[in-house]
Amino acid sequence: GGNQRLIVVSNRVSVPRAGASAGGLAVALEAALQSSGGIWFGWSGETRTAIDADSLHTQQVGPVTFATTDLTRRDVEDYYLGYSNRALWPVCHYRLDLSRFNERETQAYFRVNDLFARKLAGLVGPSDLVWVHDYHLIPLGAALRDRGLTNRIGFFLHIPWPPPEVVSALPGYRRLLQGLAAYDVVGFQTERDVEHFVRCLEEEGLGTSEDDGTVVVGDRRIEVASFPIGIDTEGVAEMADKSVGLSSTRRMLASLEGKRLLIGVDRLDYSKGLRERIRSYVAYLAAHPEEKGRVSYLQITPKSRSEVPEYAELEREVATQVGEANGACGDFDWTPIRYLTQNVPHATLMGLYRMADVGLVTPLRDGMNLVAKEFVASQDPQDPGVLILSRYAGAAFELEGGALIVNPYDAVGTAEAIDRALRMSRGERRERWETMMDVLRTHTVNAWWQNFLAALSPAEDERSAPS
Ligand code: G6P
Repeated sequence: GGNQRLIVVSNRVSVPRAGASAGGLAVALEAALQSSGGIWFGWSGETRTAIDADSLHTQQVGPVTFATTDLTRRDVEDYYLGYSNRALWPVCHYRLDLSRFNERETQAYFRVNDLFARKLAGLVGPSDLVWVHDYHLIPLGAALRDRGLTNRIGFFLHIPWPPPEVVSALPGYRRLLQGLAAYDVVGFQTERDVEHFVRCLEEEGLGTSEDDGTVVVGDRRIEVASFPIGIDTEGVAEMADKSVGLSSTRRMLASLEGKRLLIGVDRLDYSKGLRERIRSYVAYLAAHPEEKGRVSYLQITPKSRSEVPEYAELEREVATQVGEANGACGDFDWTPIRYLTQNVPHATLMGLYRMADVGLVTPLRDGMNLVAKEFVASQDPQDPGVLILSRYAGAAFELEGGALIVNPYDAVGTAEAIDRALRMSRGERRERWETMMDVLRTHTVNAWWQNFLAALSPAEDERSAPS
């Protein structure tokens, strides 16, 4: 009985604060919660020496309750910095070489998921829909089932899911698959990820796929499907259009002094292909010395997960590489790469995207990559820039008709794409941009959550059946 509310669970919870501008996904999930009322549950981001197994912080904002829990420092180290970000993250991004496995951290991952389930179970009403997000929380659905929940529970993975040849290296691999199989709907970014996951289930003898896209797991049937995440296409386009009035836009334009602008925006993460991208740009300059002084590459790279050693190492490597490239290729009146490791306000970014002639989105592996989509939606329809996009970003499956698709490991090929982008006629740029905008106008972020919730909602006959 009762009305059907939505319960969103994610490792990080974005409690809306006055004056703070939330990111696209946070805004979208809040919109989903607003429409049905509900709860957003997760880690507060705070650590304390000891935590009580039942305590919660709650804050009511309209029809939405934000419920958060603190974690101990030990839990953060083992569950978040450890298993989530040194085992799952690298392996799911095909980087077995950067993964570090540790039994204590593996245990902590499942233990913290149990703790989350314990704190959440009491908040869930009998007909609520539960939607769990991302790799930190794979076992949460199974942990909730252990506590007797029979609700419809869905899971969406924001990052890639590799084939069994790669992902089976994870400690707790079988338990992760069993955890995923405990959901009613398991969503991925691309069909490729879906195929990989279904192969994992079949090869482990945990499930059998049917022709209708469902997977039979024991006596249950689950839905495994792709739900490519989108952006607020209209909102971004409007924001970018209005950016001409921003002082940041004027300052940037003045500093360019007519130079062509290339832009990259990424969290400082080894999955983003930053080192390869800088190498490609240097290769471009080497092949086109006449362009020195006429182009400028702005790379905005907010620091991320600096407490994880592989990230701290990358910060040093990229900083060194940028310094060396500027030292070797620059001139006394020209800096080839402008490099920031700070957060830049969202509206400013959209303005910078619109000014840019080329967007460089060249991850070595990425679940989707929303920078690619926001770059496209920010362009001036009359005079759009060109997107250079890695074949290894989930977004490539949707944008391949309009972007220049590159292999990010191939510096020469990527340098050629930069050259082609900078020389492309306005006609071709407009045509390619329209092709991509057609996709972005239909696959919006609202369509994304609506499609997922439609799959998660009980079928008509179940809903009307007397209970
Ligand atoms: C990726 C993940 C998210 C994560 C974000 C920032 O987009 O898919 O789950 O929240 O990175 O990383 P952080 O570790 O700072 O939460």
